[in-house]
Amino acid sequence: MRIVVGVTGATGAVLAVRTLQALSSLGVETHLICSRWAETTLKLETDLSLADLHRLASVVHRVDNLAASISSGSYRTDGMIVVPCSVKTLGAIRMGLSDNLIVRAADVTLKERRPLVLVVRETPLHELHLESMQALARAGAVIFPPVLGFYHRPRHLEDVIDHLVARMLDHFGLSMPVPRWGERTVCDHSNPESSL
Ligand SMILES: Cc1cc2nc3c(=O)[nH]c(=O)nc-3n(C[C@H](O)[C@H](O)[C@H](O)COP(=O)(O)O)c2cc1C
Repeated sequence: MRIVVGVTGATGAVLAVRTLQALSSLGVETHLICSRWAETTLKLETDLSLADLHRLASVVHRVDNLAASISSGSYRTDGMIVVPCSVKTLGAIRMGLSDNLIVRAADVTLKERRPLVLVVRETPLHELHLESMQALARAGAVIFPPVLGFYHRPRHLEDVIDHLVARMLDHFGLSMPVPRWGERTVCDHSNPESSL
């Protein structure tokens, strides 16, 4: 399996790190593209360098390389995830402004009718953000704001992140071993029906 991973300068660099780690552990070939601002947020929010992030990917593409393999629909992939996705990149994808490889690869993913998951990270949202999300959802994208879930009783930030990443990867038919509603798992601390 081959998945394109775009990383933008929205806060949440750790989501990109964990997504790449999970895809690697699942044996998926990843094609990574980082925006200029992704590098900044990665440095601000983690102890990792851009080179560390690159090491988690199978193939790394420069964001300004519009001649990369993944810039063409004839290069076969199983879809793309933009994690985290800034509202700037959201708007650019919505308008088809394919002047960088993240936006171009997302456009290609949509036109080829492959899964496109946009982990849009902004809050609160104004009408233009919402309008872009609606238009892209209608065009086939999965709009996946990294909204916290609590029903699996997370104890650590890692539990929350893993749960989010697992739900993102579900859209590619990939399964991460995390707590799921209706299944007994390690984070199933009590019977939710008796504790609510
Ligand atoms: C620390 C930091 C946090 C940011 N968080 C967000 C965010 O959560 N959402 C967002 O849309 N932009 C955020 N931004 C702004 C984007 O980085 C900026 O709009 C940038 O132009 C996005 O470009 P890109 O999509 O090409 O990475 C943040 C910037 C910094 C420095």
